[in-house]
Amino acid sequence: MKVLLLGPPGSGKSTQAQRLSRALSYFQVSTGNLIRAHIQSDTELGRSIKGYNDRGELVPDDVILKIILPNLEPAGRWILDGFPRNEAQARELQAALEKRDISLSRVIALEAPDEDLTARIKGRRQSLATGWTYHVEYDPPPEKRGDLDTGPFVRREDDTPEAVRRQLELYHQEVEPLKAHYEKQGILTAIDARKPIQEVTEDILQALSPARAG
Ligand code: AP5
Repeated sequence: MKVLLLGPPGSGKSTQAQRLSRALSYFQVSTGNLIRAHIQSDTELGRSIKGYNDRGELVPDDVILKIILPNLEPAGRWILDGFPRNEAQARELQAALEKRDISLSRVIALEAPDEDLTARIKGRRQSLATGWTYHVEYDPPPEKRGDLDTGPFVRREDDTPEAVRRQLELYHQEVEPLKAHYEKQGILTAIDARKPIQEVTEDILQALSPARAG
C-alpha cells in the first residue's frame, strides 16, 4: 500500500497520517515534519529553507525532491502527506515510482472550506518530542505525566496569518489542479474533512479497504 494525502493547510493531513500510520503500521512520510526537522537541527539545508517555510512559500523543487524521494521505499507500506504540491513534483513522483516499479494505491483528498482551516491552524500545537499534531480544543495534547508524548507543545513558526494566507493561495493554484490528474487514473477519493477527526479517520479507512484487501 502506497497512499498519498492531499489537502489544504489545516485540513488534517498530518493528523490523519499519524493516526493511519499507527492504525495500519504504515511508515509516515510527512513532508512538513521532514522540513521542520532540518530547520530544528540547524543543518545547512535547514538554514537554506527556513525562510520559505516561515513565509508559507514552497521550498524549491530540487531541494524537496532530495528530501522526499529517498523515503519512498519500494517494499514498504507508506503514507505520504504534503507532496506533490505542483505539477513538476507530481511528474517527478510518477517517474520515481515507475523507476522503482511501484504505483500509488490510493490518493485521498481532504476537503474543507478555507474559513474552517484558519480557525484550526490558530489552535494547532505541535509536540517538539514526537512531531505529533494536536489542537487546543479539538484534539488536546496529553496532560498526564507518563504519557508517551511529553511535549513541549508549541505553535509552529509558520502558523502566522500571513503564511497561512500564502499557503492557502498556493494550495488553490498549485495543488488543487492535481486532483484531476489522480481522478483520471481512478485512484482519487475525496473525503469531507469538516467532520470530527475520528470520523474522518474512519472514512479514510473505508476508502482504503478495497486496496488493502486486494
Ligand atoms: P506542511 O507542514 O505540509 O503544511 P501544510 O500543507 O500547510 O499543512 P499543515 O501542516 O498546515 O496542515 P495539515 O493538513 O497537516 O493539518 P493538521 O493535521 O496540522 O508544510 C509546511 C511548509 O513546508 C510549506 O508551507 C512549505 O514551505 C514547505 N513544504 C511542504 N511540502 C512541500 C512541498 N511538497 N514542496 C515545497 N515545499 C513544501 O491539522 C490542523 C489543525 O487542525 C491541528 O491542530 C489538528 O489537531 C486540527 N484538526 C485536524 N483535523 C481536524 C478535524 N477533522 N476537526 C477539527 N480539528 C482538526
